[in-house]
Formats: sequence, C-alpha cells, structure tokens
Amino acid sequence: MAGSTWGRRAALGLMAAGCTPGRPPAQPHGPSLRAAARARGLVFGTAAQAALLRQDAALRALVAAEAEVLVPEYEAKWGPVQPREGEWNLAPLQELASFAAGAGQRLRGHCLVWHEGNPDWLLAALAEGPARARRVMEDHFRALLGATAPVMREWDVVNEMIANPPGSDNPSPTPGDLRDTPWLRALGPGYVELALRTARQADRTLRLTLNDYGMEADTPWAAEKRARLLRLVRALLDRGAPLDAIGLQAHLQMREPFRPEPFIAFLRELRSLGLSVSLTELDVREPDLLAPGIAERDALMAAYLEQVVRAAIEGGVRTVITWGLTDRDSWLVSMPAVARPDGAATRGHPYDAELRPKPFRDALLRAFG
Ligand code: XIL
Repeated sequence: MAGSTWGRRAALGLMAAGCTPGRPPAQPHGPSLRAAARARGLVFGTAAQAALLRQDAALRALVAAEAEVLVPEYEAKWGPVQPREGEWNLAPLQELASFAAGAGQRLRGHCLVWHEGNPDWLLAALAEGPARARRVMEDHFRALLGATAPVMREWDVVNEMIANPPGSDNPSPTPGDLRDTPWLRALGPGYVELALRTARQADRTLRLTLNDYGMEADTPWAAEKRARLLRLVRALLDRGAPLDAIGLQAHLQMREPFRPEPFIAFLRELRSLGLSVSLTELDVREPDLLAPGIAERDALMAAYLEQVVRAAIEGGVRTVITWGLTDRDSWLVSMPAVARPDGAATRGHPYDAELRPKPFRDALLRAFG
C-alpha cells in the first residue's frame, strides 16, 4: 500500500475545515457534550460515517462541536478497508481523519477482527486453515495500523468475541466462553491473544481494546456474559497478552432492568486488573410497546440512560462514546435486526431526526455533572 500520507493530509484537513489545530468550531448552543465531559475529566465522542458528514453541513457542525473522539462507523472495518486481498480502500478513513483533524478530535479505530463485515475472500482464506489465517491477519494489521498510525492511537482489536449465554440473541450456542466465529474456527481459542500480539507487534504504543456488548443489564444473561468476559480477560493477562482496555458497547435496551451495583462491581473488577473501560457504542433501544407520546418516551429513555452513565462513571469509566449523534442516521432505525418491531423510529440518540437536541443529551450533561 502506498506510503502513509496521513499526517500531511490530516493537517490539510485543518485548513479545509477552517479551524486552527486543536480548537473545535464555535458551539451550536450551550455547553457542548465534549466541553461538559472535559470539565469533569471525561471524554465524550461519537461514531460517524464519512458519507453522511460529506453531504450534510449541519451534521458536520454538530459532530465537530460535540465530540472529542470520532469513531468510523464502518470505514475502518475489514470489508470496507480491504474488499479484495491486497486491494486497499482507505480514502473514506482518510476523509474522517481530515475531518477529525479540523475539529480537534482524536480517531478511535473500530475494528480489526470481527465476525461481521468480512469480505468473501477473507472468509475463504480463513477456511483454508491457521497458517493462511495468521498471514492475512498479519498483513491486514501491519498495513492498516501502519497507514493510520499518525492519526489512530487506539483500536478495538477484537469485537464481540464472547459467546452469548443461552436465551436471547443466541443464534449459535457454543461450549465455552468464545463466540463461534470464522476466526475461532480458523485459529482456535487462542485467536484473541494472537490478534492482540499481532497488533502490538505492528505498533508498540497502540492502545489495544477488546470490545463487546450485552454487559450492562441486571439480568442472569448479562451477568453470565460479564463473567465470561472476565474469565477471558484474566486468562489473557495471566499469559502476558498485551491488553490495555475494555470497550463496552452499551447498546442499552430499556426492556432490561438495570441496577447500578452489579455493573459498578464489574467495572471495578476490570479496573482492578489494570484495564481502562469505556462505553464505546452508547445508544438506547426502547421497549417493544410504544410509550404514549414522544415527550414521555424521551423522558423515560433519558432517565434510563442517565442511571447507566452515572453508574459507569462511578465505576471508573472515563470515555463515553455514542453510536452516532442523531436518530436520523441510526442503525437502530436502518437495521431491521435492531429496529422497533412496531415500525416506529427509535429515538435512541442525543439528537432527533431534525438534528434537534433531546432529553437524551440533557441526561448526558447531567451524568457528566
Ligand atoms: C454497525 C453499523 O452501525 C452499521 O452501519 C453497519 O451496517 C453494521 O455495523 N456493534 C458494533 C458495530 O461493534 O460495528 C455495529 O455497527 C453495531 C453493533
């Protein structure tokens, strides 16, 4: 892949966005989420799509003003980055890097190894066995981490590696703690450690994160998933695997009860292992039955959200990242698998479909204190 021009292009982004280095543009209204978070020693960020930022100046202003960290919603995933073996498509990522540079934002890499978003050629390569699987992992990591090194200092190295406990969201129950994925089948249960070591080998100072979902609620299912993650993390650290942080996606579901105590205890357990913990994909799904009106739905959702974010901060979380800022662009609306079964549009983000702020945003400001 061509030598990296990330640093220069990111600098060009500064001029393009009409900003001086490190200072975000004027705030759209009141204290921004990034400023409120910073005032409390916290970091607020959001995921974004290059294509949406390109076409919408209002969204660009909002994302630049509100977020200190930017996460490519899918431009850094395997399929978009290396759609065919040896063919690289880094332009959208470059675009996000330029935007982030102009807005005084850091980029967070998501994600290197996942069971979704993989091109057919990769699945075929993984099916050829461990030697080929290791080589494609090493090649991909070395090229992508090398190209993005100047602008991306943190990555979700493996995403959603924990097997879901029996019950909901469990298409393929498997023995053990690891989800049944093409990576597990190709490389065995050591693939998580291999991915971490391969990333560390590609970049000695990269912050390496394992990222997963379904760990927040006060349910036996979530408790079991938390236990599985802790078992994996302890085993990795006992083997000296390079692991710096845990990302909890925090795709909250209001139909699930939440109690601060078990969640805080879990966060403190992870912190006691020397790991930092972030909320990396925060949004809120409403219960299946519609609440009476929008005002009530928003109020209920804001209350649920606030208690979770407060508990997270109490447990030592210092970075809170939403999976997008607006209901309009949310995967909770566009993806049937997570959209409302009754066809209504989920209102699970800080801003509504017309980019107006919602009680969700106020709840974040209150939780940031
Ligand atoms: C989702 C994106 O939001 C969609 O736009 C894309 O089509 C599929 O992936 N957990 C993750 C994210 O780690 O990468 C997923 O993002 C949402 C669930």
